[in-house]
Amino acid sequence: MIDEERIEAIRALPKIELHLHLEGAAPPGFIRGLAQEKSVRLDGVFGEDGAYAYRDFVHFLSVYEAATSVLKTPEDYARLTTAVLEESAASGVIYSECFLSPDFCGGGDLGAWREYLHAIREAAEAAEKSMGIVLRGIVTCIRHFGPETAKRAALCAAETADDWLVGFGMGGDENKGKQKDFAWSFDMAREAGLRLTTHAGEWRGAAEVAEALRDLRVERIGHGVRAIENLALVDNLVENGIVLEVCPGSNVTLGVYPRLSAHPIEKLRERGVKITVSTDDPPFFHSTMAEEYEALARSFGWDEEVFGEIARTSVEAAFCNEDTRAALLKRLG
Ligand code: ADE
Ligand code: ZN
Repeated sequence: MIDEERIEAIRALPKIELHLHLEGAAPPGFIRGLAQEKSVRLDGVFGEDGAYAYRDFVHFLSVYEAATSVLKTPEDYARLTTAVLEESAASGVIYSECFLSPDFCGGGDLGAWREYLHAIREAAEAAEKSMGIVLRGIVTCIRHFGPETAKRAALCAAETADDWLVGFGMGGDENKGKQKDFAWSFDMAREAGLRLTTHAGEWRGAAEVAEALRDLRVERIGHGVRAIENLALVDNLVENGIVLEVCPGSNVTLGVYPRLSAHPIEKLRERGVKITVSTDDPPFFHSTMAEEYEALARSFGWDEEVFGEIARTSVEAAFCNEDTRAALLKRLG
């Protein structure tokens, strides 16, 4: 048994989060408030308890998109960014990489995207000043919107790549299309100097992770946990230093695994895979970074040393520049 003081200390640790969808992190009260302000009716998004309600992964994606439909202006995204960073900072997060979607922010139009990005960055700068939390952006394309739509997102990413907009990735329905359908977009992003990650091995098995590495040449994998189904691939992840953005609460709530004790995060870590911990879409999964840490400590007996190791791995795997990385390592102590 871990004593409760130990749990409190673990909840309070400084945390690095590498896998967070900005819209998916929107507190339900924030979305409800915005819908009221705009007199928009949001049917089928909330349950009776006021939380987001969905049946399964595909339904989750459609509820996510319905909730996102009330975010219509750069100012809405600035307010969202502030609300999300407040939640993250309250959970001990000192650095966050957030997925941003030009498809939701201006419909893939570059001029509009620049305005949304500007608003998000201004809110992030204010949050860094007031709360000390550092944000960096990763443009994400959305797999079920298809490769042509992804190209527009990649162009937006390439045109705005810099020390703040640091990566390109892909989320969405893993059961639609193939990783290689998106190779053009990933190549474009790589050429613009962006670092790469893609969701794989959440809904499909180890072969999907292998395809992501082969066809998109990413250095991190969103989830990637089903790599555990092929130990040769796991060894390959270790040899190549591939980092997994593991989101245990998301995987359990969406039913990838029936309970945390059945989740492969500990097996992957023991075998030497570079593991990081994130929430994915915290209010959808009734989770926070502090709660993820607490659950992992209770389930696997992880102590401050293990979490310290994970935080350092996360800083090393962050897509930020070297000055930011050095400052973060200092803050971890
Ligand atoms: N978009 C937001 N959350 C996601 C997840 N868990 N998997 C794929 N796409 C997502
Ligand atoms: Zn995700």
